[in-house]
Parts: sequence; C-alpha cells; structure tokens
Amino acid sequence: MKLNSSKVLIIDFGSQYTQLIARKVRESGIYCEIYPFSSRIDKIKDFNPAAIILSGGPSSVYDKDAPLISDEIFKIDVPFLGICYGMQLIAYLLSGEVKPAKNREYGYSKLEIAQKSKLFAGCGDDEPVWMSHGDIIVLPPNNFTVTSKTENGNIASFENEEKKIYGLQFHPEVAHTICGHKILNNFLFDIAEVKKNWRLSDFVEDKIKEIKTEISSDSNNNAICALSGGVDSTVAAVLVSRAIGDKLVCIFVDNGLLRENEARDVFKFYKENLSLNVKLVRAGKIFLSALKGINDPEKKRKIIGKLFIDIFEKEADKIKNAKFLVQGTLYPDVIESVPVYGSSSIIKSHHNVGGLPKKFNFKLIEPLRELFKDEVRLIGKKLNIPDAIIERQPFPGPGLAIRVIGEVTESSLKMLRKADTIVTEEIKKNNLYNKIWQSFPVIIPVKTVGVMGDKRSYESLIAIRAVTSLDGMTADFAKLDYDILRQISSRIISEVKGVNRVVYDISSKPPSTIEWE
Ligand code: XMP
Repeated sequence: MKLNSSKVLIIDFGSQYTQLIARKVRESGIYCEIYPFSSRIDKIKDFNPAAIILSGGPSSVYDKDAPLISDEIFKIDVPFLGICYGMQLIAYLLSGEVKPAKNREYGYSKLEIAQKSKLFAGCGDDEPVWMSHGDIIVLPPNNFTVTSKTENGNIASFENEEKKIYGLQFHPEVAHTICGHKILNNFLFDIAEVKKNWRLSDFVEDKIKEIKTEISSDSNNNAICALSGGVDSTVAAVLVSRAIGDKLVCIFVDNGLLRENEARDVFKFYKENLSLNVKLVRAGKIFLSALKGINDPEKKRKIIGKLFIDIFEKEADKIKNAKFLVQGTLYPDVIESVPVYGSSSIIKSHHNVGGLPKKFNFKLIEPLRELFKDEVRLIGKKLNIPDAIIERQPFPGPGLAIRVIGEVTESSLKMLRKADTIVTEEIKKNNLYNKIWQSFPVIIPVKTVGVMGDKRSYESLIAIRAVTSLDGMTADFAKLDYDILRQISSRIISEVKGVNRVVYDISSKPPSTIEWE
C-alpha cells in the first residue's frame, strides 16, 4: 500500500447493493469510489486505494458473460474484501471451488462462527445475516481458513489473514445483517487501517472556496442554473450562491406539469427563503399545446425535454457573461454502471434539468458530482435548506405528463393535481412520506361504471402507485395499510370530480417500472 492513501475502491460486479456499500463506507467517514469490473488494473492502481472491496453481482462465475477480473488484482498490496459474488470470484481466481447450490439461499440465515476472525470482532455467536446467492463455495483457496458457516452448513466467510484477503458470502451492507456495520468497520479500520477523511462539513467549506476561485477569477463571469424544485438542483444552486451570490442567475421553468401550486410556492421560497437570484419562466401553455394530440410516452418525453432546452437556451442568452452552467449531477450519474438486468437498450428517455446537453458552450460546475443523494440531503441541511425541499420524494423531469396516460389535457391535469394532493396528505399524515420512495396517482384513460347517489356514473379511473426502493433502479410496491388505501380512495372519489374508481398498483420493478410511462 502506498503511503497516505485513505481511499477505498469498490469494484462493481453488478449488484443492486454496490452503491449501498459505498454509502456505508462513506458513513464510516472514509472516501470511496466505485469502478466497473472492466477497469484496467493500471487504472485501479492509479486510484491508489488503501483497500479494495469486490461487490456482489447477479452472475455465476461460470456464466458465459460473467463479469471477471484478472487475478493480477491480488498483486496490489492492499486488503481485499469480497462480498457474495465478490467472494466467489476470490475462490474462483485463487483456485478454490465454486458450485451451484442445491437450494438457493435467499433471505435470513444464522452465522455460525467456526474460527476467530478480526472481521467478526464484537459480533455475537449466531448473528442474523442476509443472503442472496445461487452458487456456494465448496472449497476455499489454498491457505484460506473458513471462519464461519450458515445454518445450512455452507461456507459463509473465509480469509487469508496474512495476505489480508477476506470473503463474505452474505451482505454486510444491508440493514438486515445486524452486525454488518461492525464487520465493515472492522475491515476498514482494524484490518485495512484506513483513516477517517470524509466529513461533509469540510466538503461544504472546501467547495465554496473552490467555486469562488474558479468563477471569480474573472469578475465579469456569471453562472446560470436551471432549478427544478428538487433537492439536487436546489442544493447545487445554494452552494454556488454562497460562493458567488447574485452572480449566479437561476432559471425556474414552470412547464405547467408541476403539482398543485408548486411553481408559485417553490419560486417564492427560492427568492424569499433561500435568497436566490431566480427568474420564473411561465411556459405551461407552450408545453400543453406541444403535447396536444400526443399519446406515445416516448414522444411526450422527447417533446418536453426538447422544449425545456429551447426555453432554457433562450433565457440563458439574455444573461450577460454567463460562462458557467451549474448542474446538480450526483455521483450515481457519474459512475460507469454495470447493467444489472437485461440489455442496455433505452427503456425511457429521461429528462432531467441536471442533464442539459453539452452543446451549450458553458463550463460546467457540478459541485455534487462526488456525492450520493443522502449526502446531498445532509449538505442541504447544513446549508439550512428546509425539509420541505430536502426530504421531497423524487419527481420526474417530465412531471405529471407521464402520470396522465395518453394525451395530456388541462382537465386531466386538474384531476391529477387534486388526487396528488390527497395522496401526499394521507401519506404524510401516516408518517410514511419519507419511508417510501415515491407515492402518487396516475390517470388511466379508461372510464368505468359506478353508482353515486342511486345514479349510474361513467367516470375516470385513477391508480395509486407507492413503492419502496433504495435507488429507483429496483422497487417493490409499498405494503400500505388497507385503512390508508381506503381513506385515499374514498377521498379521491368524493373530492375529485370525474373519478369514480381507484385501484392500487401492486407490481414491482422489474418487470414493471415505477412511473407508468
Ligand atoms: P422508472 O419509471 O424508470 O423511474 O422506474 C425510476 C425513477 O426515475 C424517475 N424518473 C425520472 N426522473 N427524469 C427524472 O429526473 C425523468 O425523465 C424520469 N423518468 C422517471 C422516477 O420518478 C423514479 O424515481
């Protein structure tokens, strides 16, 4: 290990938990990055890691297209921790033996410690651990000791203490593995002896200084930023405005596809509470007329994305000496991701104000590009941005347009806004708003028969979508209480004119997606 290194490198083999490992390492006060498994060994060495973690992944080491890495990696003289697939890979590369398990181990298991290990210092004798694997290790590599087994008798961990190579068949990064945090910390601090070096308060001070130096090098330089009302663009704008004040001009486009009173409230808030130099562009009518007669989801997304860019460009042209463009890009947008499932074909073309095209001739300022969402939220709190913005559930760039299935009309938007207010109120009332990833209604262009006050009704249908998720990549429907669902349904039917039926979406992602379009 080169001296002075205090960064950890996580090599990604496609697990849905890779980013979670990184967040856990950072929560322990250590800076880390994620590289794809296909990274060259030189690039890995250049990062100068103090320790390397090999992530899990959905493959088997024997799959035709299994993500592999050269065994040269073990020549890098740092401690290694392989998690799940990462452990199987260690076994495979160092001549151990991996085999398909008779029964896939998924969910809880109990860890039976077989041999004392530094990795398990402070853990109990039969710790609950979270498993998710189809292959098992039947033979550890030479000079490796098995340190624990699962209750099924499968190898749960092994190590070569001298070489400091460790493997865990279970996932220490997930909350279900109660002792997981301790195990990761034992690896980081006791085995790899990494020093804490990652503090968000330092980050804020350093970034403000850095931005000041960069933008103020020429006193005529201005910066612009597109605000969406969401946490990322807001935190990025506030951070930059702390550095350069009104030299940052923010543009907030009301596309007419926002929630009830959102444009008005958010704009007022930006100006009065966050003292941002912000301009509101009312463009609802333009968006609505461009969407007239359009039913196809991808066409809708493309029209909205392009219009937004046209409008932003026009506004940006009016700002003198605008040389810099501030964007709320986050670390997950920067990581070269390993596809977790299926091909990399486009499922939905995302529109995001944080992702304006490079054709603009601005220098980019991306103050959050090293950060995860939860770190951005913490920074937002340090910058005194209130919870109403910091804790907001994600909201898609194309807004309510992709929650009105088929053609977007003024009347469907009106219905959807009312239903959205009710869903949000009920979810908040039951203290679920921050526990679930997203909760919202969708209008389906179908009418069904109902009976209201002895009369036949023939009215619109609304679906409620509420999901739990770690990162939006995979999701499960939220197991909402029937009483909450009943309350949402009866309020929508009685308060939203034109709706006589409410259904609950019980699909997970994959195979469904979170948004309906
Ligand atoms: P899907 O529907 O693909 O959504 O399962 C995953 C997450 O992404 C959000 N989403 C978007 N966010 N621009 C965004 O900024 C978009 O165009 C967009 N489309 C979907 C969605 O709300 C969910 O959180």
